[in-house]
Amino acid sequence: MKIAVAGTGYVGLVAGVCFAEKGHDVTCVDVDENKIKLMESGVSPIFEEGLEELMRKNNATGRLHYTTDYQSAYRNAEAIFIGVGTPEQPDGSANLSYIATVSRQIAESVENDCLVVVKSTVPVGTNDKVEQFIRDFLKRDVKIEVASNPEFLAQGSAVHDTLHAARIIIGTESREAEEKLRKIYEPFGLPIVSVNRRSAEMIKYACNDFLALKISYMNDIANLCELVGADIDAVAEGMSYDARIGARFLNAGVGYGGSCFPKDTKALKYLARQHGYTLRTVEAAVDVNAEQKTKLFQKASNRMITFQNLKVAVLGLAFKAGTDDLREAPSLDNVQLLLEGGAEVCAYDPAASEHFRQRFPEGPAQKGSIRYAASPQEALEGADICFIFTEWDEIRNLPPSVFREKMQIPLVYDGRNLYNVAAMKEAGIEYYSIGR
Ligand code: UDX
Ligand code: UDX
Repeated sequence: MKIAVAGTGYVGLVAGVCFAEKGHDVTCVDVDENKIKLMESGVSPIFEEGLEELMRKNNATGRLHYTTDYQSAYRNAEAIFIGVGTPEQPDGSANLSYIATVSRQIAESVENDCLVVVKSTVPVGTNDKVEQFIRDFLKRDVKIEVASNPEFLAQGSAVHDTLHAARIIIGTESREAEEKLRKIYEPFGLPIVSVNRRSAEMIKYACNDFLALKISYMNDIANLCELVGADIDAVAEGMSYDARIGARFLNAGVGYGGSCFPKDTKALKYLARQHGYTLRTVEAAVDVNAEQKTKLFQKASNRMITFQNLKVAVLGLAFKAGTDDLREAPSLDNVQLLLEGGAEVCAYDPAASEHFRQRFPEGPAQKGSIRYAASPQEALEGADICFIFTEWDEIRNLPPSVFREKMQIPLVYDGRNLYNVAAMKEAGIEYYSIGR
């Protein structure tokens, strides 16, 4: 099928590439010319395992194209997938301006009947509005229908999550739209759950917010574990055998970050309030997460007189391992606090340092400055305190002796519970983690 995809972020690009891989003729559209040029040269603008290989492979077969010229891409497309961002606004609601821009472009460009599929996460009811909006601005007498097809990929495993998704959710209001989407997904050979449009929109939020809730719950229990002398890792292990609970997403830590959980919890909270309802469970998850992010910093603040002129090693900047994404990463809040407190920060991340450097430019070692190290060992050299914010294997696999050997004072605050408490103690390290 002839498919156009609007937006080449995690959602749009990965979807487009995977559609091409499954035999469709795909054109990816983005407003960002540099991104398009980069992709044409076979380079992925995002760090995602297996993506670049698939981009090159399908580019070579002639099934995958990139352009900024949306008119030519939308004109004869049989289906147009929208994957532009829906960032959070200051009040917590989702910003739909990019969706609106693309909808208008579609309305002005399409010359044939076409199914518009919203992949971006949008508040319940948005698909109805998108359909009306496109119809209002249509330039030609063609039939347009809008369907919802939320995306469940996690960054770092986006290609795998798309090709081997647990299920495909399609939300449609007509038999015709449902059949078309089923046909597009047929080559994937995955279970398809077909519901109405509003339910599909809600499924996405309900899933993300449930996972966010699960993490906040574990963080809440971890905080209580510390007070009563229990160990959250042992508690999580004990819980994990209960199939009703499940073994995943039980890791306590510095709080959830990324492009989805923080935004989608706030958006659902906002949506509920708009309808006069208080979603108390989700609101609690948001509050717990906000406090959790700087829990370790608070602990360290209570232990030290000051951070002024202290050498602080920061290991891990990305919001989770396997990505160079910094959106809502706990490292951002903590580094900001450390720099305000006058620390000399030396940070290491195997993928996200370049992005971090753009927000926190490198300066000569002095109070309130940050430098970037090429290895964890380099970051730890002469450090007085170490903070860990991301569970990279490069950090997890460090032997405890490294902290003892490299640091001036072996004082470690681990936001990801990467090391064995007894082993760290035995190695002579003053070690603080979450819920243990
Ligand atoms: C996605 C989804 O869109 C969002 O709803 C979900 O909740 C999280 O993940 P992501 O793919 O990460 O967002 O978005 P982003 O990285 O912002 O990429 C969007 C792309 O669309 C960018 O490349 C941007 O240049 C492009 N864009 C944006 C357009 O082509 N046209 C526009 O009008 C706006
Ligand atoms: C998430 C969802 O998993 C995905 O289905 C959805 O489409 C987009 O949002 P992503 O944000 O890429 O994906 O990452 P995920 O692996 O879910 O982690 C999100 C955050 O939760 C990270 O900050 C991670 O560190 C944190 N997390 C995850 C925990 O703190 N504990 C856990 O046990 C699991």
